[in-house]
Amino acid sequence: MGDGSTEATTRATEISRAATGRGPRLVAVGSGKGGVGRSVVAANVATALADSGQRVIAVDTDLGSANLHTLLGVEHPREGLSDFVARREEDLRKLAIETPVANLRLVAGTGGHLDDAQPDNARRVRLIRDLRQLDADWVVLDLGAGVHPATLDYFLVADDALLILSPEPTCIESAYAFLRAAFYRRLWQSMVSQNLRDLVTDAMDPRNERGIQNPLDLLREVEAADPAEGARFLRTVDEFRPKIVINGARSADDIRLGFSVVTVCRRYFGANFKYLGYINYDEAVRRSVIAKVPLVHFAKEADAANYLTRIARKISEPPPAVSLGRHR
Ligand SMILES: Nc1ncnc2c1ncn2[C@@H]1O[C@H](COP(=O)(O)OP(=O)(O)OP(=O)(O)O)[C@@H](O)[C@H]1O
Ligand SMILES: [Mg+2]
Repeated sequence: MGDGSTEATTRATEISRAATGRGPRLVAVGSGKGGVGRSVVAANVATALADSGQRVIAVDTDLGSANLHTLLGVEHPREGLSDFVARREEDLRKLAIETPVANLRLVAGTGGHLDDAQPDNARRVRLIRDLRQLDADWVVLDLGAGVHPATLDYFLVADDALLILSPEPTCIESAYAFLRAAFYRRLWQSMVSQNLRDLVTDAMDPRNERGIQNPLDLLREVEAADPAEGARFLRTVDEFRPKIVINGARSADDIRLGFSVVTVCRRYFGANFKYLGYINYDEAVRRSVIAKVPLVHFAKEADAANYLTRIARKISEPPPAVSLGRHR
């Protein structure tokens, strides 16, 4: 990235901080299905942000299959997030270790211990608070696959929630399932009364007896029951802004798929989805994984490296001055 984008990045960070009054900007990289390139995207976006002069910490939250350290060229980390989760370490900052990439530190997943337990609710709240207090401009979270509440919560609290899809029907199906689970979890969290929390829980079952088929049906029921909860519902929908990334694109149809997914999701969820971009299928990615060097360093000139850098640039651009409003 040149000087111009560095300046834009710095401005974006300042804007984000001014808007939220908190520390680093959180980026979460998730997916419904495994093996679609989450860790490759997390490692390379973190590296590209670090290359632009930002202080970045990558965090491997995929405790069941932690391997972000390998993609970043860190061999056998002795400690990691699992030590925080298991309360062997109380200070998250101490777990951030240097990587071969300047400006980029890493909180590895599992250190010497082979546990894959996810944090319980209380530990998760503490972790999210501590992530926000890390001394960095950006924190990039590599998420596990699937809909574990911990995974959904990291995705929901992120300032930039990236959902990685590979252009295959199975992956698209899992992506919708993931988004649906995240969306309903967020709605459930935003409802104050137990009655309406129960209503959201019922609505999550597609065969529910109330006949609620989609979020709009649910909104009608919530508004009818309590207008204040209805207003909260709408605010929650407005704040749900996943960013879709297609990884492993091999054709124009694969690239266009991102637009279709965004259109369908906007219609279904009534929320502000965005198509952040695509990354082409590129053998150089596999070679960079084998070399244990992020692609944006291993082969800067590779197409996929350019697309990954572009994604990093897009998330660090200042947000548009005017809100786009809700899409229904
Ligand atoms: N754009 C791409 N082009 C070619 N190969 C790719 C691309 N992206 C990822 N891969 C290949 O897919 C493999 C899996 O990627 P990655 O480990 O990032 O997936 P993941 O979603 O994190 O998987 P897991 O569920 O195991 O955590 C990589 O090792 C690489 O070989
Ligand atoms: Mg992974």
